[in-house]
Amino acid sequence: MSNLAVFISGNGSNLQAIINRWKKEDTAFDIKLVFCNKDDAYGIRRATKAGIPVKILLHSDFVDRQAYDQKIQEIMLAHQIDLIALAGFMRLLSSWFVEKWAGKILNIHPSLLPAFPGLNAQKQALEHGVRFSGCSVFFVDSGVDTGAIISQAVVPIFLNDSLETLSKRILKKEHLIFPTAINDVALGKVSLCNSKAVFKIKATQTN
Ligand code: GAR
Repeated sequence: MSNLAVFISGNGSNLQAIINRWKKEDTAFDIKLVFCNKDDAYGIRRATKAGIPVKILLHSDFVDRQAYDQKIQEIMLAHQIDLIALAGFMRLLSSWFVEKWAGKILNIHPSLLPAFPGLNAQKQALEHGVRFSGCSVFFVDSGVDTGAIISQAVVPIFLNDSLETLSKRILKKEHLIFPTAINDVALGKVSLCNSKAVFKIKATQTN
């Protein structure tokens, strides 16, 4: 059983999907903590409702990123965390922190990486005019959305799509692949080796 911390900054619909998966009997992770960098994030309510401890750290209370990330590290150790899921966590983590947690931090991004990394991925896809997009789960490295890909799901982009309709379609897929990927990593089905995701046993495919 892996002790999981879920990091959020906003709505937390991915957190909710992870909580829903956690409540199933066959889950290989235990959500020990929700970590948040905003005190008004809706996801905090979701965590509280599920009875999960929440830790909020505002960057304005720290002198710099290193001090902030050192505090996160202390919190992770105090809660005996094994695995971290970034579920819409919109703050960059320092290389210092990311390297300590190599192969143990998973992120979800709303595009088919390596296309459209960074902010506003859905808008980038619409503006580029691609006919398909989707979402990717990957092991976090010190680049922006450059880590080894664990799983992806594809959605079509329709000619009349708005940012809202496309984001919703992608989010539905996020809710499927992210909890599954976390569980696969917790089970040791997938791990990071030489900057690549290595699949020991066939990982669960959800798309
Ligand atoms: C999700 O679409 C997630 O992929 C995205 O933020 C949203 C969070 O939604 N993350 C990123 O763009 C990270 N680069 P949620 O708070 O409802 O889970």
